[in-house]
Amino acid sequence: VSAASPAAAQIGSFLSKKPYAPPSWASHLALAPSHTFSLGHFPTPIHQWNLPNLPEGTEVWIKRDDLSGMQLSGNKVRKLEFLLSDAVAQGADCVITVGGIQSNHCRATAVAAKYLNLDCYLILRTSKLLVDQDPGLVGNLLVERLLGAHIDLVSKEEYGKIGSVALADLLKKRLLEEGRKPYVIPVGGSNSLGTWGYIEAVRELEQQIQLSGDVQFDDIVVACGSGGTIAGLALGSKLSSLKDRSMHSLFAMTLNTSTIMFKA
Ligand SMILES: Cc1ncc(COP(=O)(O)O)c(C=O)c1O
Repeated sequence: VSAASPAAAQIGSFLSKKPYAPPSWASHLALAPSHTFSLGHFPTPIHQWNLPNLPEGTEVWIKRDDLSGMQLSGNKVRKLEFLLSDAVAQGADCVITVGGIQSNHCRATAVAAKYLNLDCYLILRTSKLLVDQDPGLVGNLLVERLLGAHIDLVSKEEYGKIGSVALADLLKKRLLEEGRKPYVIPVGGSNSLGTWGYIEAVRELEQQIQLSGDVQFDDIVVACGSGGTIAGLALGSKLSSLKDRSMHSLFAMTLNTSTIMFKA
């Protein structure tokens, strides 16, 4: 592989810290991040989705963010690229995050933290019954336990009373007292910094549309949980060239971690 080839450029790029420059249409936004960690495999492919019974003249295309990596796959990776870069820049030695017992965000955070040599503390919300019994080695919890994440279970009732922010703050306080340097990532990684992941995804989409020549999309449909994905897409599409050409509205629905685009 010659040093100048695209293949050579990829060697060593995964898990590396890179300087970040926002797209020109987002450069005026406050608090633009200066760095990001390369955690996912981008750009993710876009292909037509041959669904049955579509109205005549309607095409559905899918942007496969579920293919953004293996253990780290899905929409969470884009947010974590910015959040973990900030954690490392702040000198954190561990991260704390919060979610449901089978949260994809918590699993992705545990994997990303492991890659970057940070300890991971998860506050997982579940039924009172499972707090008292052990919830076992199932789904994302199995991955988190294999990775050695520290897990605190909290009942839905307690979670409702205390709230995710206060729960994370209590754990942060305890870790600080133990001499640790924790970095808190909110539910779903959905804060202003995490939102940059999907502002950046809009730039990726713009470039893919440009390269495709004539593919245009009218609507974008995306699953919505904590809201960071849709916030980044909505902001990015409003500011970017997608606004008039291809974006009419954003709807929320639950369908995997991929982004579905309609062309009517
Ligand atoms: C599989 C999947 N897709 C989409 C979402 C929604 O993402 P967000 O939390 O950014 O709204 C989630 C998060 O809950 C998810 O787990």
